[in-house]
Amino acid sequence: MKKVVLIKGDGIGKEISDSVIKIFEACQVPIEWDIKEAGLECYEKYGTPLPEETLNAIRQHKVALKGPTTTPIGTGHKSVNVTIRKSLELFANVRPSKTLPGINTRFGNIDIVVIRENIEDTYGAIENMQTPDVAQTLRIITKQGSFMIHSFAFEYTKKNNRKKLTCVHKANIQKMSDGLFLQTFREVAQKYPEIQADDIIVDNLCMQLVTHPEKFDVLVLPNIFGDIVSDLCAGLVGGLGLAPSGNIGKNLAVFEAVHGSAPDIAGKNLANPTAFILSSIMMLKHIGMKNYAQKIEQALFNTLKAGIFTKDLGGNYSTTEFTDHIIKELNKLQTYIEIVNKEHESKVEFFDPPKPTPSSIWKIVGLDLFVEWNEVDKLPELPEKEGKLELKMISNRGTRIYPPPVPEILMVNWYRCRYLANEELELKEIVEFLKNVTEKGIKWMHVEVLRKQDNKEMFSKAQGE
Ligand code: NAI
Repeated sequence: MKKVVLIKGDGIGKEISDSVIKIFEACQVPIEWDIKEAGLECYEKYGTPLPEETLNAIRQHKVALKGPTTTPIGTGHKSVNVTIRKSLELFANVRPSKTLPGINTRFGNIDIVVIRENIEDTYGAIENMQTPDVAQTLRIITKQGSFMIHSFAFEYTKKNNRKKLTCVHKANIQKMSDGLFLQTFREVAQKYPEIQADDIIVDNLCMQLVTHPEKFDVLVLPNIFGDIVSDLCAGLVGGLGLAPSGNIGKNLAVFEAVHGSAPDIAGKNLANPTAFILSSIMMLKHIGMKNYAQKIEQALFNTLKAGIFTKDLGGNYSTTEFTDHIIKELNKLQTYIEIVNKEHESKVEFFDPPKPTPSSIWKIVGLDLFVEWNEVDKLPELPEKEGKLELKMISNRGTRIYPPPVPEILMVNWYRCRYLANEELELKEIVEFLKNVTEKGIKWMHVEVLRKQDNKEMFSKAQGE
């Protein structure tokens, strides 16, 4: 018996978990559940939403099926999902969206796989209040993280006999972060000449997905775009109740439905367990139990084809009635079906990321000083020159306001003030500069050292520069 961790989670988590438990029993899947806790209820009981014991069980058994967990909005504990993905380095989130039998949607025959980077981007939750009025989130994209997700995406595309992999980005605006994501994609693509590798800007992708979804095959995206686009794709095939996913790392994997804990219908026996069942099918394929996966998939498809739907899909069946119908269909399938459909093979070959590139060839050329200034009808009073550093630009909310002309924009009390030198600086000169401006009473809360590699600037320009 293979041991698998089961986290039932919150809200509808228990109902949909019980559905999977019953189906696996009926199918005699050789799995023993190691049931562990996580989520809001767990937090209320033990003061932590994700006990170390739960993480250790995943480390031990290598695979888990996870129900939805509630994350308080704005305040409260951190998201259990994000913590699991980060603690266990589950860097790839695979979200297939495929038209299901019996489900009527605007488009037939959709078959898209979204591969979302799962660790980086804004999900580091590196956030600070810069002033009482200005919040900042850092968006982190790394060469190594991009290499890992693109390598995974190409291997997945190859292993599943897919033809095309599209990199989704916003490199026209975020030239550095999305630029690095795209550049790494192009580098990894060199190793896969048999796969058609192209790229698209995320807004254009969204428009094309809702007009010509058949154009797309496998998509690879930075974390936040992947989060949004995968829900869009789920909508294309009938909604969140039908969208499964797998969080994959080098040695560990956690499978879960894309939807949340649905507090509005929790405890009412109304939840659609399909997405969770599909996630459990992905999990079975991942651990090599493909014939059981195939059998459960067939029974689920036969149920949907027969028009047996839960309320979210316009039907009258409760969660338990829907589950019982799948079990009836399972019992009709006498023998295991031969594996013909190898799709969603998430176990792929992994490659080591590139070693860190030292920045020793970069020269320090200046700094961006982020300053609080509350007289909105007046520019901040700053020295034009301080040591070797000259004030070259001030921006407010990313728009250049100095040197003049000052555009008519809404100003807030947070200014980015760029000082540049004509020669290379040492770090201690930056420290000296900070000491001097602090003595002049300038209220700063953040500094960014600016560097250059030959003629290439390692920092971005303000809008209007
Ligand atoms: P949600 O996905 O829970 O619900 C959105 C809507 O879809 C609701 O009307 C709900 O009733 C419906 N719905 C979702 N799953 C369904 C299903 N299986 N059957 C029938 N209807 C279903 O999203 P929401 O309301 O934004 O989030 C609720 C909580 O879940 C939040 O605390 C959120 O942080 C958490 N969440 C957890 C996730 C996870 O653990 N993987 C993923 C997304 C959200």
